Amino acid sequence: MLYSLVKPVLFSLDPELAHDVSLDMLQLFHRLLPNRRIDKPVRIMGLDFPNPVGLAAGLDKNADYLDGLGKLGFGFIEVGSVTPKAQPGNPQPRIFRLVRKQSLINRMGFNNDGVDHLLQNVGERKRDFVVGINIGKNLATPVDQALSDYCLGFEKVYRQADYIAINISSPNTPGLRDLQNEAALDALLSAVSQLRLKLEDQHQFRRPLALKLSPDLAAEAIPAVAALLRKYSVDGLIVTNTTISRDGVQGQPFADESGGLSGLALRDKSRQVLSDFQRELVDDIPIISVGGIDSAEEARLRFELGAKLVQLYTGLIYRGPGLVSAIARAL
Ligand SMILES: Cc1cc2nc3c(=O)[nH]c(=O)nc-3n(C[C@H](O)[C@H](O)[C@H](O)COP(=O)(O)O)c2cc1C
Repeated sequence: MLYSLVKPVLFSLDPELAHDVSLDMLQLFHRLLPNRRIDKPVRIMGLDFPNPVGLAAGLDKNADYLDGLGKLGFGFIEVGSVTPKAQPGNPQPRIFRLVRKQSLINRMGFNNDGVDHLLQNVGERKRDFVVGINIGKNLATPVDQALSDYCLGFEKVYRQADYIAINISSPNTPGLRDLQNEAALDALLSAVSQLRLKLEDQHQFRRPLALKLSPDLAAEAIPAVAALLRKYSVDGLIVTNTTISRDGVQGQPFADESGGLSGLALRDKSRQVLSDFQRELVDDIPIISVGGIDSAEEARLRFELGAKLVQLYTGLIYRGPGLVSAIARAL
């Protein structure tokens, strides 16, 4: 109701400005909002989620808005992607609305204030929702040295994250998605797993590890990737990130902008990748479904296809924050 009044104002602004203004407002006034805690508890990856509806990575890259976002009823919030060092990302404009297709194209390029800043914001406080930290690599780090960035990030966030998501699927860092190739992924997961064993020993607890993948993975590549997830005891799979495909949006304003496409135009691909992985993994490794979820019906379908949790981003922009509770309550 309220969002239908605010949306035309926000949509009259540049998308990134609208993002900043709305999150600043939310953070400023969140104490005035009632607590929308919605209890539909699920236990996944060894963690207790108050409900299975989460915020996808990228909206709160620095964990600057956790308190405000926490008021919207999410069962979990994934902050990041964060890189070891702060970096500015790509020049603006770098987010575009494809309004008629309820989609976005972004080429943010991992703009963030660095992992130390994020960890200060996450703090030690116990929250009544799960906080995942999504890690990436700095643009300046060559892809063949990416392992060192991921290991550095993993070690830094180990204590404070409820789970750690490794993002090798953003289309806006050149070469990043090559890490999804079988040999590169094997090397990455092997390095992270060894580090994880060391940290587990040191801290006496095991942090769940999730991997976030692209919707543009070839269907033929999925069995090998699934085998690697098993080999390295990855705890969760997040599918999908944004797509470089422009299927369904050709001819629309901004469709030719470079970057990753999200929202309604991504929906079918995201469903397909979920189904393909569920067929391989059965229920051995839980899948977090993300990409084009904008209604309770769509969320329900993802659970029917095998997802154990769902995440939202673009749906929130087009439908408003009430989408979180609408989905969580309907489940
Ligand atoms: C502006 C924007 C920034 C994003 N930044 C990140 C990011 O930093 N890390 C990441 O893993 N995914 C990022 N994503 C991808 C989302 O987390 C999500 O996987 C994708 O948008 C598909 O979900 P949706 O259709 O609900 O938006 C970003 C998406 C958008 C629209």
